[in-house]
Amino acid sequence: MPLADSAYSDFSEAVYISIMTEHDLLEVVEIEGHSGLSPWGWAAYYAELQGCNRELMMVARVAQPLEPVKTDQIAGYIVARLAAEELHINNVAVRVEYRRRGIGSALLTHIMEEGQRLDATTALLEVRAGNSLAQALYAKCGFQGVGRRRSYYLAPQEDAVIMRAQLSGMLDSCG
Ligand SMILES: CC(C)(COP(=O)(O)OP(=O)(O)OC[C@H]1O[C@@H](n2cnc3c(N)ncnc32)[C@H](O)[C@@H]1OP(=O)(O)O)[C@@H](O)C(=O)NCCC(=O)NCCS
Repeated sequence: MPLADSAYSDFSEAVYISIMTEHDLLEVVEIEGHSGLSPWGWAAYYAELQGCNRELMMVARVAQPLEPVKTDQIAGYIVARLAAEELHINNVAVRVEYRRRGIGSALLTHIMEEGQRLDATTALLEVRAGNSLAQALYAKCGFQGVGRRRSYYLAPQEDAVIMRAQLSGMLDSCG
């Protein structure tokens, strides 16, 4: 059983993380469009959902307890792949209005736990060299810079910093 569908209540509001479905994709693509990520678009997310990494595609919702009808919008998402014993984190983004409330950390913690459950021993990612906010998030979750890929990103062209975290023996990822 995947770990997804769990609730994080160590915030002032409850954040629910579940496995992404095709019904989530319009919102996911909308968030992607406002996040400065290299765009995948609806078709690429849909294709990924059909593959063996679908358990590593997750969305976070924030419960709206005062609303009579359940209309929790997606606050953020994360997408990763497993290759051998390595969890490769591809995309993580949080809606602008939900940022700095621990949702990025919750998504990263959750996917690292899921990777560990699937026997990954390390997690790896690339991040724009100038994206210091994301690098701070990753560092908080145990990632360290281990290298650089020259001109990895386009539009605008920029180096990638490669960051890696050890998953085996991981306790609380983002303390
Ligand atoms: C990076 C991103 C996912 C962080 O999401 P978030 O929900 O705001 O992150 P959190 O609230 O969990 O913050 C975790 C840590 O990240 C760092 N951080 C995040 N936003 C920050 C900001 N505006 N200023 C300084 N540090 C920041 C801090 O270290 C923070 O820990 P702290 O709150 O204990 O200080 C979000 O800013 C985002 O969607 N950015 C655009 C997409 C992107 O760059 N994705 C990564 C591509 S590789």
